[in-house]
Amino acid sequence: SRQYLVAGNWKMNGGRAANAELITGILAGVAANASVEILVCPPSVYIDAVAQQAAGKIKVGGQNLSEQEKPGAFTGEIHGTMLKEVGCQYVLVGHSERRAFYGDADDVVAGKFKAAQSLGLTPILCVGETLQEREAGQTEAVLARQLNAVLDLNGIDSFANSVVAYEPVWAIGTGKTASPQQAQDAHAFIRGQLAAKNAKISNSTRLLYGGSVKADNAVELFSCPDVDGGLIGGASLKAADFLAICAAA
Ligand code: 13P
Repeated sequence: SRQYLVAGNWKMNGGRAANAELITGILAGVAANASVEILVCPPSVYIDAVAQQAAGKIKVGGQNLSEQEKPGAFTGEIHGTMLKEVGCQYVLVGHSERRAFYGDADDVVAGKFKAAQSLGLTPILCVGETLQEREAGQTEAVLARQLNAVLDLNGIDSFANSVVAYEPVWAIGTGKTASPQQAQDAHAFIRGQLAAKNAKISNSTRLLYGGSVKADNAVELFSCPDVDGGLIGGASLKAADFLAICAAA
């Protein structure tokens, strides 16, 4: 069976003092949640310090990485080897904010997934439809397109070391959560797409739900059969909220 993963995506939030306080708070509550894997993804400049403080009890990941195979003259970019060196095991790839604001098109996302894989970082591939796409009945087509771009470049075997996060864009930061049924339907579709290529890999791949997850809706979301945890934005910035979500897993 799949181990639950609860991941905090801090986005562009935090600072030295706030991060230290947050990690102290999570560490204080983490022993009670030993069966769930807990991950935080801080802004890159803080990863090193957060990873040292987390001391392996909380895992640490990047929010983005360069698709370049090798380090070099790419101003402002961060190579996966750098994320690894400062303690990351995971990295988000294709978050909707990257797709919408920074030009991370499907082919770029596929390249980033490849770059992460080649270094032994576990990519957390984010997929999800906009409200307009959902209302036009295109949810499954969008999910299939986003998944296929990565599958075509990397192959199904690469998903053995990966996590997929379903984050409907209309639910991110809006307070509108997908209903458990909407989440389960999308997750079952994603798992089916993977199963069509390799049933065993599909069965072992963790699928996270993201989008306005809070302590009071986490239990019902996490009890869906194909929801294996969550990718948490706003509610990952307060230790008590994040711990309550971890406890729901
Ligand atoms: P919120 O939990 O703030 O809606 O953000 C979700 C998200 O985008 C996590 O990656």
